[in-house]
Amino acid sequence: MSILDTIRKRRSVRTFDGTKLREEDARAIMEYAEKVENPYAMPIVWKLLDADKYGLSSPVIVGTDVFIAGKMRREPHAEEAFGYSFEKIVLFAESIDAGTTCIAGTMNRDAFERALALDSGEVMPCISPVGYPAKKMSMRETMMRKGIKADSRFAFEELFFDGGFETPLTEEKAGALKDALEAVRLAPSAVNKQPWRVVVCGDKVHFYEKRSKGYVSGNDWDIQKIDMGIALCHFELAAKECGLDVTFEIADPELRLDDNTLYIASYVLK
Ligand SMILES: Cc1cc2nc3c(=O)[nH]c(=O)nc-3n(C[C@H](O)[C@H](O)[C@H](O)COP(=O)(O)O)c2cc1C
Repeated sequence: MSILDTIRKRRSVRTFDGTKLREEDARAIMEYAEKVENPYAMPIVWKLLDADKYGLSSPVIVGTDVFIAGKMRREPHAEEAFGYSFEKIVLFAESIDAGTTCIAGTMNRDAFERALALDSGEVMPCISPVGYPAKKMSMRETMMRKGIKADSRFAFEELFFDGGFETPLTEEKAGALKDALEAVRLAPSAVNKQPWRVVVCGDKVHFYEKRSKGYVSGNDWDIQKIDMGIALCHFELAAKECGLDVTFEIADPELRLDDNTLYIASYVLK
């Protein structure tokens, strides 16, 4: 299956069918995770954890007792790096028909951090259940998806811009970038806020975070930067699949921005 089809098919899975994660799938996921790199070159340690052994739980998840969790040094750009690597694993899991949900909030975090033996310089941004989707969602999952409008996304022209934030980019004008930008549009984000904005300036594609109120914690940890890492991952994978030669860079073009918007990173097209 193509990456764009995998991205289109993926959704958060919170109701699993109760089947134990097959050994070969667990092995494939871990082998893949251990090799995943991110544009920030930050190492992340991944573990598949048994819920019973470590007392792990999430009030929104039913039907699986396996979780994947990752830890890394707490440094600038950790959020984007984690989001990027995490999403690669999510898409790999999807490609072998295993369901996941990125979870940053709804879990007993202390138990997960103990299971990873997290030290004071480290952070565990998110975890995910891993298992096989049930045929029918739980009532709680159905209600939750409705509450956060999980099946909808902003329109193309609301997210993507041409030369500066003053001019929306239409799908027609996006040309060769259309599919890669569509992959960004479909990405998952915390509470489905979709904070990514992209400005295309010639051969450069600049990514910005449009911050929602209340998502940056007192210690400067910004959960929406995890969303930004996910968006970068979707863009790069889809662009490469479309045959585009893109390279990552951090070089702020200093466009005119409003107060809640900040520069994250760019891709340069060859
Ligand atoms: C960084 C991040 C954190 C999230 N945290 C949670 C969470 O704590 N609990 C939860 O049920 N879903 C969580 N989600 C899942 C989102 O709610 C979900 O991706 C979004 O509503 C879009 O739905 P979809 O993934 O089915 O496309 C999180 C997603 C991301 C990207």
